Amino acid sequence: MRRSHILSTGFRVPDRVVTNEELTTLMDTTDEWIQQRSGILERRWVDGSEAGSDLGAAAAEMALERAGLRARDVDCLIVATLSPDHFFPGTGVFLQRKLGIKDIPCLDVRNQCSGFLYGLSVADAWIRVGQYERVLLVGTEVHSTGLHRNDAGRDTAVLFGDGAGAVVLGAVTEERHTRDRGVLSVHIHADGAHAEKLWVEAPSSASDPFISHEDIDEGLTRPAMQGRDVFKHAIVRMPEAVHEALAANDYSVDDIDMLIPHQANLRISQAVQKILGLPDDRVYNNIQRYGNTTAASIPIALHECIEEGRLHDGDLLCLTAFGSGFTWGSALIRW
Ligand code: UT7
Repeated sequence: MRRSHILSTGFRVPDRVVTNEELTTLMDTTDEWIQQRSGILERRWVDGSEAGSDLGAAAAEMALERAGLRARDVDCLIVATLSPDHFFPGTGVFLQRKLGIKDIPCLDVRNQCSGFLYGLSVADAWIRVGQYERVLLVGTEVHSTGLHRNDAGRDTAVLFGDGAGAVVLGAVTEERHTRDRGVLSVHIHADGAHAEKLWVEAPSSASDPFISHEDIDEGLTRPAMQGRDVFKHAIVRMPEAVHEALAANDYSVDDIDMLIPHQANLRISQAVQKILGLPDDRVYNNIQRYGNTTAASIPIALHECIEEGRLHDGDLLCLTAFGSGFTWGSALIRW
């Protein structure tokens, strides 16, 4: 049986640390409110010199180095982001150019907080069928430049941070590894009935012109979120997706050695943990330091979880995400 497996990870966050205290100088908020509602202590923001493709390229270079590979050893690049460098072409080709790789396909995935899992689903399928041997999957976001960094955006600006995470996926076979090592399953879902509950309305090719001064003045180019609704759905869909992954592989919650939820809000992760009945040492969170980095949050957390020695050979790793769209999903990986 041929499977895909994560061969290595890498990450990059901007150097600039933005504390909750700093945000209080930009908008009507408090360190106490942000910590109590989201668990976030600080996040990283670019200083204007780094694009999502720069962060992604740095994360990818780290992952490639750790896999002992050069960029040209990769057969395909998948980039998940909701904050592309430009309206088009996708961030993938800019990232490809920065890595100095020529003539490999670059797929851009636009599934927001679930982007990494959507990308993983495609990478896994391509590797399983033998289309590619090695896929570089990158989640990268620059949120800060698109946020309302004033009172109008206080319900979103305090949550989101910039950063990138990358993984190199390669083929593993039963001859080389134990029976079920690698990506066991990826399940992804969407429900467009909730599309406007977390979105950026403009620019929009559904309007003519697709951007106007009024759009900018009214703040339509900034993210708008019905936070409570997103929260309520997240804590239902993520546990549901975890159970779906477990059932598909004949496992139970007790078999999970490590759960890495998308880092949207520490309260969401804690609620998911409680619903599943997992102890603290089997759930990994790092939102405290980075905020919500959407498509980058899972690969960044995975990288740090490994660096901290909390993921061991043979562990059953579960990933789950939920976000704008709504989109959600889960993956089960035998490490
Ligand atoms: O990645 C996936 C996408 N995003 C998410 O998963 C986010 C999901 N939602 C959430 O995490 C939470 O809903 C938030 C953290 C966004 C908000 O927490 P909440 O407990 O749902 O608060 P709320 O929106 O109900 O607002 C409570 C109060 C409001 O004031 P009133 O109406 O009670 O007087 C807000 O105006 O908090 C106020 N508020 C703030 N106060 C201080 C909103 N933002 C802030 C702020 N600082 N930054």
